[in-house]
Amino acid sequence: MNREITLTINGEKATLSVPPHRTLLELIRGELHLTGTKLGCGIGECGACTVIMNGEPVNSCLVLAAEADGAEIWTIESEAQGDTLSDLQQAFVDFGATQCGFCTPGMIMSARALLERNPSPTREEIAEAIAGNLCRCTGYEPIIEAIDAVARERRSGGYKPRTPALKPGEYVGSGTPRVDAFEKVAGSAIYVHDMVLPGMLYARIKTSPYAAARIKAIHTEKAAAMPGVKVILTGKDLPPVKVGLYLQDKDILVREVVRFQGEPVVAVAAETEDIARAACDAIEVEYEPLEPVMDVEKAFEERERLVHPDLGSYSYMKGVFFPQPGTNIAHHQKIRKGNIDDGFAHADVVTEYEFWNPPVQHVAMETHTSIVQAKPEGKVDIISSAQSPYAVRNLFAHAFGIPHANIRVRVPYVGGGFGGKAGIHLEPLLYCLSKAAKGRPVKLTCTREEEFNTMPSRQGLKSVVKTGVTRDGKIVALKVRYLWDAGAYADYGVNIGRAAAYSGAGPYHIPNCWIDSFVVYTNKVFGTAYRGFGHLEVLWAIERNMDLVAKQLGMDPFEFRMKNVLRVGDTTITGEKITHHHGRPDKCLEIVAREIGWENRHQQPKQVAPNKLRGFGLALLHKAPAMPTFTSCSAIIKFNEDGSVNVLVSGVDYGQGTYTALAQIAADELKIPIEKVRISWDCDTDYTPYDWQTVASRFTVMGGNAVIQAARDCLNQMKNIASQVLRVPPDQLECADEKVYFRGNPDMAIPYRQLAIGYVYPNGNAIGGPVIGHGRYIAVGLTNLDPETGQGLPALDWTYGAHAAEIEVDIETGEIEVLRLISAFDAGKVINEQQCKSQIVGGVVQGLGSAMSEKFIFNEHGQFRNATFTDYKIPTARDIPREMKSFLVETPDAQGPYGARGIAEHPMVSIPSVIGNAIADATGVEMFEFPFLPETVYLALKRAGVTPKPTAGVTA
Ligand code: FES
Ligand code: FES
Repeated sequence: MNREITLTINGEKATLSVPPHRTLLELIRGELHLTGTKLGCGIGECGACTVIMNGEPVNSCLVLAAEADGAEIWTIESEAQGDTLSDLQQAFVDFGATQCGFCTPGMIMSARALLERNPSPTREEIAEAIAGNLCRCTGYEPIIEAIDAVARERRSGGYKPRTPALKPGEYVGSGTPRVDAFEKVAGSAIYVHDMVLPGMLYARIKTSPYAAARIKAIHTEKAAAMPGVKVILTGKDLPPVKVGLYLQDKDILVREVVRFQGEPVVAVAAETEDIARAACDAIEVEYEPLEPVMDVEKAFEERERLVHPDLGSYSYMKGVFFPQPGTNIAHHQKIRKGNIDDGFAHADVVTEYEFWNPPVQHVAMETHTSIVQAKPEGKVDIISSAQSPYAVRNLFAHAFGIPHANIRVRVPYVGGGFGGKAGIHLEPLLYCLSKAAKGRPVKLTCTREEEFNTMPSRQGLKSVVKTGVTRDGKIVALKVRYLWDAGAYADYGVNIGRAAAYSGAGPYHIPNCWIDSFVVYTNKVFGTAYRGFGHLEVLWAIERNMDLVAKQLGMDPFEFRMKNVLRVGDTTITGEKITHHHGRPDKCLEIVAREIGWENRHQQPKQVAPNKLRGFGLALLHKAPAMPTFTSCSAIIKFNEDGSVNVLVSGVDYGQGTYTALAQIAADELKIPIEKVRISWDCDTDYTPYDWQTVASRFTVMGGNAVIQAARDCLNQMKNIASQVLRVPPDQLECADEKVYFRGNPDMAIPYRQLAIGYVYPNGNAIGGPVIGHGRYIAVGLTNLDPETGQGLPALDWTYGAHAAEIEVDIETGEIEVLRLISAFDAGKVINEQQCKSQIVGGVVQGLGSAMSEKFIFNEHGQFRNATFTDYKIPTARDIPREMKSFLVETPDAQGPYGARGIAEHPMVSIPSVIGNAIADATGVEMFEFPFLPETVYLALKRAGVTPKPTAGVTA
């Protein structure tokens, strides 16, 4: 029975009637429409729902609405006063403490509560206070800095905003704050999570508890009879379509055989989420369990138990991918350079090591969510938390045979993606539900558990690396076998196997190279793109291998890397020649080695307490965008009546900061204040122009070039009109200060606003018309790789980088503390230093999550055991290194805008390697798999006989 409660929310009294199970979070978001407060997990583990209740921060998902009777509650909406942000909000903007923004409201509320009870917190107290608020983007450091600045400056008169005073021409290269920061810190940014459409139904899915099983029967009668249930669909009710980006191997719902635990078997659409959930509970599915294929090595050899017996009938991108019907191999990528046998014959030392890393989850704070409506006349409207509206449209069109023009895909703010929202996910199922529900829009928001169980992950990887090297430290042969644990579907995973192969020797000159990269089906949750696109995994093997081989040679790992690193004139393993336009991995390595004190490290005491050993590590990295050769992108710039512009693009900024970079570029090119540039951050395939996908750290490069071209197109159009008015040839006109003027006499000028929609002469005649510039960019010169040798040009550009770390290992507990982590990247040209550094810190901490704690745990039946934040731990504010520093090198790229390269994914790559190398340096124990969980490290130390020893002058 409902209960009447009265509470004060943001200073206003509200009386509401609430059912007993309603949570405070549901009340705030649902009844009170205060959607700034977010739902990230629903079990009190992420802090996205933090509000202040009676002066204390609480997880509103854990508070029953009835418990809030008589309470005073403050949400993020209370912080700003109109257009004036609170000090904390402003500091979050100034310090780059928001990226995707999904965690930001909860984070600010926790910070507010802290400052109320402790106006002078230490950095440790700040980290402690926000440790319950998970952020997957920022790496916490900018958040701590922002809160610290507010606390300090309050004591001396109040926080002083740091908005840089910049003029047109100064934006590129500056630290311009994010253009979308205001809405994110204010809690007014609307994500798909927050959207409700008129007449909308809510979907829920019933998933398989088995990793492999045959469906014998599905009983839906009880559920169908429940009031409010509108549609129930099973695999048999759906058209026999398969979806996928590069390889169409995925059913919308299981048709006969389940391929992973968590696979959707039945879907329900109902009037409310509660009803849909209850209906799912009432559905009974009879399974015949099958023995799952869990081990990637066994799956590779297997010829009987096939995850996809029909692989030979699937569609895929021919000439690029090579599935092998009759096996579990979805793709085999070969790289052959030089003569591998000759190479090993000339080696003085030959080593072979095996490495492993497990599947992990992206853990975007906004889970996957979409709304789809099947409209009359075969039209479809999709609103999705997706990375790539045009890819969703294209895949959808192919799957259902619907003309592209009839499909509209919109993407508003997205709460993190990291590759997990690339491709297509919930949209086809929701379309089928909507169609069956006579065109009512249907929304599905994954629970956190479904995000782990049902949505894609990063693939596991087993690597075997054989190296031939001369005594003086030159690598003469490298033979690698990569076995990718693709899980149940490889629609996207095949391209990871391909990209990782052509990057698979690391940033080194290898004269004789042989790589086999196999993407192998198993009965696990399926893999997809994840920040770094296979490079974190591959570089784990390669960069650990570099240290192990150096050790065999008795050579310093820095020196060994410098002897082999790619330099101008070398060729990559696919035959690409390194030129002066490539970046400088050697420079990056030199910087991090210098900053960590590599040369003098042996003078530092290794043992700092009886149970504590310190060590240093180095690791290099490289990565290129992995994309089809024909990838393209476009931009439109529309001038408005007042001379301001709208920049339309379809690349999605799900936190990386691309829109800010594009705004900087547009403002500088057009010579207008950045406040007059508005980027379209609701992508809409009906209105914003084509872009392939927002993946691969390619959008600043490709979108940046398209925006430059569109801006120059606008200027040319305005010059052409002005030349008629001023009677001056267009080539003698210049643009500055929002005017077109005659170079010989700057007083002869026309303001942009008089040209923006057409110039009107004093007598009323008009010429010109609205100024709309168009720009486009297509990757040029890329080729498919030769199927037998892997030779070709697969990469638009390469971003190089390096990390150095100093760590402390507690040999009694196996715990590792990262004391210092130094990173350097060759960004080509830094468009926005603050954004670059934020990406680096965020990526490094995300990499530390992979290195230290994250992995899927399966039982012997292939069932996933840690599908909640309680059991699957990502880094919190307490887990970041004591010191993180980053450096940017600028070797201009030939194709990037002003020479810029992508840098969003790279900081995560080689983090496990640098920590693994530092563990070996500290303890002498070699790690061959990560994460370095305390128990794993402890057992490895124990096996190696590393035990606490008394140290002179040091006590535990
Ligand atoms: S949604 Fe409440 S703590 Fe995660
Ligand atoms: S900004 Fe914190 S989760 Fe994205």
